[in-house]
Amino acid sequence: MTKTFFIETWGCQMNDLDSQRLSGSLKLRGYRRVDTEGEADLILLNTCSIRDKSEQKVFSRLGRLREMKSERELQIGVCGCVAQQEGEAILHRAPWVDFVMGPGNVGHLDQILSGDRRVAIDFPDDRNYDYLAVDRPSATKAQVTIIEGCNKNCTFCIVPTTRGREVSRPFDDVLREVRAAVESGRVEIELLGQTVNAYRCPISGRDFGALLSAVAEIDYVARLRFMTSHPAEVNDSMIAAMRDHENISRYLHLPVQSGSSKILRRMKRLYTREHYLETIARIRQAIPEIHFSTDVIVGFPGETDDDFEQTLSLIAEVRYGSMFAFKYSPRPGTPALKIGAPVDDAIASERLTRVFDLHERIKREHLESYRGRILPVLVEGPSKHDASMLTGRTDYNIVVNFSAAASTPPGSMLGVRIDQAQHHTLRGEAVA
Ligand code: SAH
Ligand code: F3S
Repeated sequence: MTKTFFIETWGCQMNDLDSQRLSGSLKLRGYRRVDTEGEADLILLNTCSIRDKSEQKVFSRLGRLREMKSERELQIGVCGCVAQQEGEAILHRAPWVDFVMGPGNVGHLDQILSGDRRVAIDFPDDRNYDYLAVDRPSATKAQVTIIEGCNKNCTFCIVPTTRGREVSRPFDDVLREVRAAVESGRVEIELLGQTVNAYRCPISGRDFGALLSAVAEIDYVARLRFMTSHPAEVNDSMIAAMRDHENISRYLHLPVQSGSSKILRRMKRLYTREHYLETIARIRQAIPEIHFSTDVIVGFPGETDDDFEQTLSLIAEVRYGSMFAFKYSPRPGTPALKIGAPVDDAIASERLTRVFDLHERIKREHLESYRGRILPVLVEGPSKHDASMLTGRTDYNIVVNFSAAASTPPGSMLGVRIDQAQHHTLRGEAVA
C-alpha cells in the first residue's frame, strides 16, 4: 500500500518553500500527501524559531503525537529552524521522534528516511536542489529560492544560526527553474532569500540586479516579486532593474526594524535612520509609483520613549502600504541577550498597539485612495466567499474581489475598476 505523509508548516516563506520541496521529494518516492495527521504514516513538523515560545509549541505538539504513535505505526520528523536550533536535544526530550533535520538538509530527505542519520543539522556544500520536484500549491504562482542563509548578524536574530551562511544558487539554475515554472503556468514568480538582494552568482559574480533583469525578461513572466531585501544591500543595479521592467512589482518589502539610529546600531542593522530614508527617497525618485512594506520590532533592549517616537515618525513619513510589527523576543545564543533586558512587557505591548493603530489609519487612507481607479489584477481563481466573483491581487499585493465575464482563467491579467475599500481588501468590477 502507498505510504502517506502529512506536513505542518510554521513560519516564513522559506519554510513554505522547504515544505513544498519535502512534499515533492516524498511524492517522487511514491508517498501520497494527506490533509489530516490521523491518516498519515509519516508526519513532518516544519518548525519556526524566529520568536516567542516556538520551542514550547513544538514540544507540546510532539507530546500529542506521542499518544498517536503509541496506537499505530508512525514516523515523526522534526524539520525547520527549531530542529536546527535544538538538534540532538529534541531526541532526548522526545525520544519517540524518528529524526531531526535542519533547513540545510531539505535536499537530503532521502538519505534521512533510509535511516542513515537521525540528526541532520549540518549545512552540506551540495544542497541537492531538485527544482523539478517542488510540489507547488498554487497554479499561478511559484516561489524560487535564489540565496539560502544570511551573513548579516542582526543582534536579535536567530536566522544566521538556523539557516547558516549565505549560499547563492548559480544564475543559470535559477533561470532554468523559472522557465520550468512558467511553462507549467506559474506566471507570477517570487524570488526568495533571507537577504535576497545580497545575491551574487557563485560562478559569474553577477549581482541581484542582473538576476532580476534576466528573470523579468523570461517570456510570460507576468509579475515578479522578491523577499526580503536588506536596506544596506539596495544598489543602483537593483533599482535600475526594477525601473526598467514593468513586470517587476512596484511593491518593495524593506524591513526597517526601528526608526532610531541608536537602536539600529545596537541591532547591527548596518544603516542609520537617515540612510534608510535616503534609500527610500532614491527608490521613489527612480520609481515614483512604488509602495513599501516593512517589519518593525518594539521593545528592543534600551528602547526609550524617544526612540519609539522616532519609529512612529518614520512609519508616518514612509507611509507603508503594509507592515508587520513584533515585540522583541530574546532568542537563545543571540548577541542582543548581552545588551540588556528587554523593555518592560506592558510598555512593549502598549508600543505595539500604537504602531498598529498608526498603521491602521495609514492603511485605511491607502485603500480608500484606490476607489474609482482601474488597477491591473492578476487573477487567482474564484473568490472564497462568493463563488460568483473572482479573486486576484494588485501589484501592491492587495487582494481584490471582483465580478468579471465568466471565463477568465487563473493567471490572466485584468483591469479592475475599484468601487469599494473593505477592511483589508478591495472590491470592483473587471473592465474591458
Ligand atoms: N531576513 C528575513 C527574515 C527575518 S525574520 C527578513 O528580513 O524578512 C522576519 C522579521 O521577524 C524580521 O524582519 C524582524 O522584524 C522579526 N524578528 C526577527 N527576530 C526577532 C526577534 N528576536 N524578536 C522579534 N522580532 C524578530
Ligand atoms: Fe535576520 Fe538580519 Fe539576516 S533580521 S535574517 S540576521 S538580515
